[in-house]
Amino acid sequence: MRKVRKAVFPVAGLGTRFLPATKAIPKEMLTVVDRPVIQYVVDEAREAGIEHFIFVTGRNKAVIEDHFDIQFELNHTLAERGKDDQLDRLQRLQPQPGQTSFTRQQVPLGLGHAVWCARELVGDEPFALLLPDMITLPDQGCMKDMVALYNETGGSIIAVEECDPSETHKYGIVGRGEDASTGFRITGMVEKPKPGTAPSNLYINGRYILQPEIFAILESQERGAGNEIQLTDAMLKLERQQSFYGYHYRGRTFDCGSPEGFVEANVAFALSRSDMNESMACSIRTLLAEVEPARRKVAAG
Ligand code: UTP
Repeated sequence: MRKVRKAVFPVAGLGTRFLPATKAIPKEMLTVVDRPVIQYVVDEAREAGIEHFIFVTGRNKAVIEDHFDIQFELNHTLAERGKDDQLDRLQRLQPQPGQTSFTRQQVPLGLGHAVWCARELVGDEPFALLLPDMITLPDQGCMKDMVALYNETGGSIIAVEECDPSETHKYGIVGRGEDASTGFRITGMVEKPKPGTAPSNLYINGRYILQPEIFAILESQERGAGNEIQLTDAMLKLERQQSFYGYHYRGRTFDCGSPEGFVEANVAFALSRSDMNESMACSIRTLLAEVEPARRKVAAG
């Protein structure tokens, strides 16, 4: 069994749902509490034992590369001012020299195309794929559990989460087959199924372990939904040749690519932190009490 050593982070999307915030700032650099969104997924990958971090970037995304570089002046100033806790935190999050690679997707032709752009850096080995705008709470563990499942089953792994059955048309949905180790066999996948046709309510939450044969499929993959090269279309073809397993993630995933999901993530992550739980809960209660009369008025017509 080949070990999962590398992770791919596609960060070349335009982030149109978040304009104008994303006009000059990549959506992956928007902060949830005090870390940029991209830092959450890199930390999740590191915790899963990933040794090499591959970023597929695009125009206006150079700041992501800077974020994972050492900031000598900042470190020096922090040390001089005795801010050891902050310096220590920065150093713990810092990838080691040679652990990161960056490649460009010159034109945003879709997620499948972005993944294909990483083919030379991944090479002929299985790899983790983490969609950086999807962050999980508890904020570590999903990929770690997927790697553990992969070490038992091999093949490709997709993490899924339950959604309300009335919302399946918004997501990529998998069919659930027999149990396999801590996961289950996947019996099919469908991207945004029409209402009433979904094989289950298990949606793909943006975490994958894929075999390198996906690259040859993506190479000739035609454009699909949204006129983009879709990863799901390529996975459907790979599924005919190799086993796919589902990992049912029991935490919660937030879609930080949409303003609602991003704001919800900020509230949820702040509430999950012992240093701000009390004050946040108090602020939220106060805010709700303040808006309640107006809400009731609107509801009453
Ligand atoms: P999304 O569809 O959520 O990202 O793609 P987007 O295109 O940036 O968002 P909107 O719809 O315009 O607001 C899922 C992931 O795939 C990456 C995105 O950066 C995101 O992490 N992606 C998407 C690419 O890297 N390249 C692409 O061509 C498309």
